[in-house]
Amino acid sequence: MNRIVAVAAAAAITMAAVAAHAASLRIVSVGGSTTEIVYALGAGDTLVGVDSTSLYPSAADELPDIGYVRQLSAEGLLSLNPDLILAGAEAGPAAALEQTASAGVEIVKLEEGFTPEEVYAHIATVGTALGREDEAAALAETLKTDIEQALAEVATSSSKPRILFMLQGGRGPMLVSGRHTAADAMIELAGGVNAVTEFDGYKPFSPEAVTVAAPDVILLTDQTVEALGGVEKILADAALAATPAGQNGRVVTMDALYLAGFGPRLGHAIADLAAKLHPESEIAPLPERPWTKAE
Ligand code: HEM
Repeated sequence: MNRIVAVAAAAAITMAAVAAHAASLRIVSVGGSTTEIVYALGAGDTLVGVDSTSLYPSAADELPDIGYVRQLSAEGLLSLNPDLILAGAEAGPAAALEQTASAGVEIVKLEEGFTPEEVYAHIATVGTALGREDEAAALAETLKTDIEQALAEVATSSSKPRILFMLQGGRGPMLVSGRHTAADAMIELAGGVNAVTEFDGYKPFSPEAVTVAAPDVILLTDQTVEALGGVEKILADAALAATPAGQNGRVVTMDALYLAGFGPRLGHAIADLAAKLHPESEIAPLPERPWTKAE
């Protein structure tokens, strides 16, 4: 199925032309997992810029950075003089992408979705845009093997811990994940239950809601822990401290992009998260792949 959403209705360059000339184009990737796919397909050297969530592999971190993927500006994107922008589903706001497209830049935007099938589709779309269809098919196939192995490991665990995922985004309030987020989907894949089901998306932290959620485990990103000055400071909150997770000191932390990126490392992330959520089950890590080594 063709999942390409070309925002640039009037763009002069067709997708076929883009694929044929990908090697000579100036390509910008916005969205950490989109960038990971580009590198996993062996096309990292086609990139002239990325967004600030493109932290992996480390080579991506060396490229010009046009800012946070959810807060893009047309000026920032156009400053790199790109021919093609590969944009993750989280890229926005829409107005910034539309303005960039109307300046004649081809934009390939991935569809939102937090399932393994959606990741395979993202890999295929990026592969087509880069003229690397065979590499994309091979990557998706290997990822499928990894995810199946991770899910088989998860199935061996008998516990179903209730998980509260919290995130600090910029200078705003601490946010709590409800349903239909990447974090919610990861919790399910790793054999947990999201402790917050009353709303979709993210909402600011409220002590009352956390008390009702009664999580067994508090799940945080490394970036959130760093921004807030450590796990102890976060657990100083009386409502969090009083939850089963707070009482038992069960706080799990993972890198945001690895945990919730839904990219080529998804199988590995499921296995690693599951090992932390079900310590009693001795879930084994998956064997390394070329694109799971950060260098
Ligand atoms: C490079 C550092 C960052 C990474 C890797 C990162 C990654 C993420 C991830 C994984 C999510 C959760 C997506 C989901 O569960 O569906 C998220 C959500 C969010 N982030 Fe970031 N983020 C970063 C920096 C920032 C910054 C600097 C801001 C604010 C200026 C910010 C604001 C937000 C907001 C508001 C959300 C919630 C989005 C929603 O309501 O759907 N993040 N981010």
